[in-house]
Amino acid sequence: MVKKISKPVIIVNFKTYIEVEKDGALAIAKACESVSEETGVTICACPPMVDLGLISRSVSIPVLSQNVDPHAAGSATGWVTPSMVRGCGAAGTLINHSEHKIPKRQIEECIELSKGVELITVVCAENVKVAVQMAEFRPDFVAVEPPELIGGNVSVTTANPKIIEETVEAVRAVNGSVSVLCGAGVKTGTDVKKAIELGASGVLLASGVVKAKDPKAVLLDLVKYL
Ligand code: G3P
Repeated sequence: MVKKISKPVIIVNFKTYIEVEKDGALAIAKACESVSEETGVTICACPPMVDLGLISRSVSIPVLSQNVDPHAAGSATGWVTPSMVRGCGAAGTLINHSEHKIPKRQIEECIELSKGVELITVVCAENVKVAVQMAEFRPDFVAVEPPELIGGNVSVTTANPKIIEETVEAVRAVNGSVSVLCGAGVKTGTDVKKAIELGASGVLLASGVVKAKDPKAVLLDLVKYL
């Protein structure tokens, strides 16, 4: 069954933080599931590749891969095919994250292959111009994240609200069916509220949840105005 991502959505990227090694990823995914069930807000877990199958089978919320490669099933040793990601139960994938950038031609191929296996696509962009280029490839979501704010303590919604408004407007002009997310430094419910007010359909965040002493408490705060 294809898991739908309804909006607004909170996508938690686990990255490769030490906190998600061993049983850490499953524990955070369970916290995401528990808060989603308690509040009705869509929360997606985006665990490291090595845990994708385990976590997809262990939680009811949508699980996203952090990456896919532009290869179909076949002879592609060591690459991660969209078909395998879908097959292990994931609902979607990030593409072109700031920490895993790929050339534009490959982004388009990854989107096409992902669509072919009903994998939801979330393509990252560092600015408005790139977001517009990505929207032309017709992904489900474009996530705008200024790289200099990633991992920091100042939210994009405070440091650069303009980039969110401009991305929403520019992406809508290219293709009204592409939703815009924003990320970088998002940590609180107030940040999420501001993102929605600026026109975003949700947020993509990492350190605020993954590195928190109590991820569940942070998640509850993140969704409190939704
Ligand atoms: O993928 C989310 C990300 O790059 C933002 O990270 O730690 O600033 O929430 P963070």
